[in-house]
Amino acid sequence: MPEGYDLRAFDVLDSTNAECRRMADGGYGGNVWIIAGEQSAGRGRRGREWISRSGNLFASLLYGIDCDLGTASQLSFVTALAVRDAVADILQSNEMVTCKWPNDILVRGKKISGILLETAGKGSETPSHVIIGIGINVQHHPEDSQYPATNLNDENGSKIDAELVMERLMGSMAHWILCWKDHGFALIRKAWKDNALGLGKEIIVRLPDEELRGRFVDLDDNGALILEFDGERRHITAGDVFFA
Ligand code: BTN
Repeated sequence: MPEGYDLRAFDVLDSTNAECRRMADGGYGGNVWIIAGEQSAGRGRRGREWISRSGNLFASLLYGIDCDLGTASQLSFVTALAVRDAVADILQSNEMVTCKWPNDILVRGKKISGILLETAGKGSETPSHVIIGIGINVQHHPEDSQYPATNLNDENGSKIDAELVMERLMGSMAHWILCWKDHGFALIRKAWKDNALGLGKEIIVRLPDEELRGRFVDLDDNGALILEFDGERRHITAGDVFFA
């Protein structure tokens, strides 16, 4: 267990993110990992459900912060790098594990994990904590998701358990949080771009009420995706990316 972090494990929870929120509301002051064997109400990005059968990893880190909301949102990329490293380490492959904007991790182009960042604390502009929810497909993956998915067992060809993945994740998360604190977002942005899928290529971005097709030019200083189309550049802060 990396120094400065605590861990609480549950057989079943509604959602590890929800448990983190209850702890923050109850005045918990430190940094704590919450893990559950199953979730009865797992939540995904943009209000979607995250199916949470036993065998996969469901973890949330309740992390105390002292910064504004914009800076805190950089933790989304910090977490993506940590998950990427944990997965690459387990599969012993660097090349096939990539980052898809904003914070999905893919193995051979298929989604293996999801990250859901929320804030907790007094005012929404000055949160006291970030809740970093991480789901990693270890033994199963959904067959009917909007984006093709995979799991670690299928990719590795032998049984991996969620405990091993959690151990690697806690180490890589502590490492990348330290890099972020010491060197700021510039280093995180560069590392993310070095591992990004589709940078410089044609992509499709689905927004709630439109679909854009253009070239993924860059990631801006705030982590927004810069999309070039019809001679203009748009900075996109939320959406689902698909590869053309
Ligand atoms: C996504 O939609 O890609 C994000 C999925 C995040 C799922 C994880 S599982 C652990 C934590 N608890 C939740 O309810 N959601 C996150």
